[in-house]
Amino acid sequence: MSKLEVKNLKHTYSDGQRDVHVLKGVNATFESGKMYAIVGESGSGKTTLISLIAALDKVQDGDIKFDGKSIHEIGESQFRLKYVNIVFQAFNLIKYMTARENVEVALDFSGHGKDEKTRAYELLEHVGINRDKADRLVQKLSGGEQQRVAIARSMAGDVPIIVADEPTGNLDEKTEGKILTLFKELADKGKIVIVVTHSQKVAKHANATVYHMKNGTLIKR
Ligand SMILES: Nc1ncnc2c1ncn2[C@@H]1O[C@H](COP(=O)(O)OP(=O)(O)O)[C@@H](O)[C@H]1O
Ligand SMILES: [Mg+2]
Repeated sequence: MSKLEVKNLKHTYSDGQRDVHVLKGVNATFESGKMYAIVGESGSGKTTLISLIAALDKVQDGDIKFDGKSIHEIGESQFRLKYVNIVFQAFNLIKYMTARENVEVALDFSGHGKDEKTRAYELLEHVGINRDKADRLVQKLSGGEQQRVAIARSMAGDVPIIVADEPTGNLDEKTEGKILTLFKELADKGKIVIVVTHSQKVAKHANATVYHMKNGTLIKR
């Protein structure tokens, strides 16, 4: 079993005029095989926290540890490549590529051994994107299908942590449920899954702790 620990994480933005203390000492523990939710109002610091966990922003104060090893020890770029993948609300796919090519790019980065085309098809099949759709430009897919592609891409590197920032924010309710089921399946396979959301309804899908982001800290629900 693997463990991700966030320890007394603090983060401040400065716009030159004044400092905005967004994270004021966040503590949380996440274990493999579970899907967690972080709920909070808009502007409460959810994206800031998840960007730090995904090593997209530099830790200013406090620590992030995987299996007892600090992100500083592992190295931020190594952490970003080998430990964590992020799924965004806006999917962030490359629009002029097919679904398969979007997944292949991620396989390239991960230095996967197996034939990348075959592996990309497999990953897409797994999230319900058949070969016909896999060979379509992603801009010709529906929002729900695009998010499935993004999830397949997040699985490409076979990293232990998947974080998602409002992953169903652009989707209808029925599609939302299906996408959340996919995240739950990733957790069942042994990943640490963290879904950030402003929606209590989405948070109900979590099968582990639901954290509430308030006043710059995380409170267990
Ligand atoms: N790069 C930035 N520079 C300055 N302020 C920022 C920056 N990113 C976010 N903020 C501010 O930090 C606060 C938290 O933002 P964010 O983490 O995006 O919250 P959430 O995802 O919960 O909506 C907001 O007040 C936001 O305006
Ligand atoms: Mg946000």
